[in-house]
Amino acid sequence: MPRSHLLLLGVALAATAWWAVAGSDEPPRAALEEARRASGELVTSVRSELVKAIEASGPLRAIVVCKYTVPEIASAVSRKYGARVTRVSLAPRNPALGWGDAWEQQVLMGFDERVAKGEKPEGMEHFEIVAEPSGRFLRYMRVLPMQPPCMHCHGPADQISEPIRAQLAHDYPFDKAMGLPLGRVRGAVTYKKPL
Ligand code: HEC
Repeated sequence: MPRSHLLLLGVALAATAWWAVAGSDEPPRAALEEARRASGELVTSVRSELVKAIEASGPLRAIVVCKYTVPEIASAVSRKYGARVTRVSLAPRNPALGWGDAWEQQVLMGFDERVAKGEKPEGMEHFEIVAEPSGRFLRYMRVLPMQPPCMHCHGPADQISEPIRAQLAHDYPFDKAMGLPLGRVRGAVTYKKPL
């Protein structure tokens, strides 16, 4: 093969490799749809358990749903999708489960900024392919805004009933998850799966 052809071939191969690397930053559509589906499933199941408990026995008794049932739902959805699917916040109530890692904190701060600038929090999401020591992951987050039922346990302290405040102070002495008005970012669902 003449040298000029070899050179052309080399350039073409380099261009393909560059395209493959540059193009790999977009997550595959099916993987992204799966992240959205899993996150939606977590949100829907949590909301239905919470609303059911509040209606049946009041918000004080619903605390046990948040404490025991929600982590179980997050585990079940994670097992089903082979991903880590859970809820995080910049100001968590449960430090074991609620604290985001560095990437999650950054995304949550970005959500806060967007909402402060007037963007609606409903449906707000962020996704990215992230390289970590053990491989590449699809990471996805979707905002959990403060809605009317959340006010019972995450709203401003003077709007939370005395028995709920006492129970939360007993169960979560380092609680940071109170004092938020409607429409603010309470936290987010986070999804992480190896590609
Ligand atoms: C009945 C009280 C109650 C209500 C109502 C409630 N939460 Fe919570 N929430 C809790 C408790 C308790 C925890 C800590 C759960 C644990 O121990 O992991 C929590 C934890 C969370 C977390 C995980 C991060 C953290 O702070 O530990 C998010 C996110 C969250 N709640 C969002 C919401 C949203 C959004 C709503 C409204 C749709 C809501 N909560 C309604 C009591 C409540």
